Amino acid sequence: MTAKIKKTEVVQSIQWVDDHIRIIDQTYLPSREFFLDIFEVGRVWEAIRSLRVRGAPAIGIAAAYGVYLGVRDLPDDGIQQIHTDVEGICEYLATARPTAVNLRWALDQAVRLAYDMKDEPSSKVKKALLELAKSIHEDDKRICADIGKTGQELIPHNANILTHCNTGSLATGQYGTALSIIYHAHLGKKKVQVWVDETRPLLQGSRLTTWELKKTGVPHRLITDSMAAWVMKEKGVDLVVVGTDRVARNGDTANKIGTYALAILAKHHNIPFYVAAPISSIDFSIASGDKIPIEERDAGEVCSLADKELAPPGTQVYNPAFDVTPHELITAFVTEKGVIRPDFSKNLEKLRPQQG
Ligand code: MRU
Repeated sequence: MTAKIKKTEVVQSIQWVDDHIRIIDQTYLPSREFFLDIFEVGRVWEAIRSLRVRGAPAIGIAAAYGVYLGVRDLPDDGIQQIHTDVEGICEYLATARPTAVNLRWALDQAVRLAYDMKDEPSSKVKKALLELAKSIHEDDKRICADIGKTGQELIPHNANILTHCNTGSLATGQYGTALSIIYHAHLGKKKVQVWVDETRPLLQGSRLTTWELKKTGVPHRLITDSMAAWVMKEKGVDLVVVGTDRVARNGDTANKIGTYALAILAKHHNIPFYVAAPISSIDFSIASGDKIPIEERDAGEVCSLADKELAPPGTQVYNPAFDVTPHELITAFVTEKGVIRPDFSKNLEKLRPQQG
């Protein structure tokens, strides 16, 4: 039996407050807990693009609320065009970040809803879009709790766990995916200690994951990404668990840059490598990882840190935000519907949602 996480310990990174979204602006963490109120769709796009709100499920939730903000002030009279307006707003929001499929997944639901209701008054469609966003948000909380409860069973007592990037409450509706597994193991009184990869260049591990683990009292130690091999060899790592931004039908998995290297290291050291994946992160439209678009970000993220130059001016930079781990390196996926082991092509297919 796992204990329930006390609500007060769990961060709410996104909230719907009366008539707007309130997010923790993650660009200020860990030094400041700054809440940003967003009333307008353009600000939602900017918040996603700038990683004020980040992590695949959280991006999907924010975008769903963003669609509502985008149509809210359109006039309710005249010829009803709201479904085409919704489509345009979704196309726009989808451009904020390309890799996390949860963004598209949430926006596609908004478009479908608007088309299904195209003969209804636009006031009714607007209301339904807000309800859709709220339900995507609430569902994600339940899904993350289920991933945590299922995944903690894979964690042995006295486990040394290595994780990458941030996959906690900040990245989701609540609890997280990979971090939810760790929280639930900790609350279930399994002794766990977490090696937190710093996660260059934007430091989601050191800025965000340590912040969350500290709040929830999970023992952890921070390492730089290049220390992972040595930690596996010298300190002993029992398992690696990471999140994902997009899983292809064959199990190839996009996640934060550096994940692929960790998977190779885990294989070399004979360490199980788990991916925590809500079904909303599985892209059933693509057969393999080579079809996953990889976001490239600004050179400045690599060349400077807090306005300090880290490379001579004009240095050429390659800055992919994600990489793709081939499915052969993955031991299993932890989803809200259970643990999925190879053959992934066959077993992930069983999770494909039936379109109503
Ligand atoms: O660029 P980010 O910080 O949005 O990248 C986030 C990740 O790579 C996470 O591992 C992934 O979105 C899963 S979050 C539950």
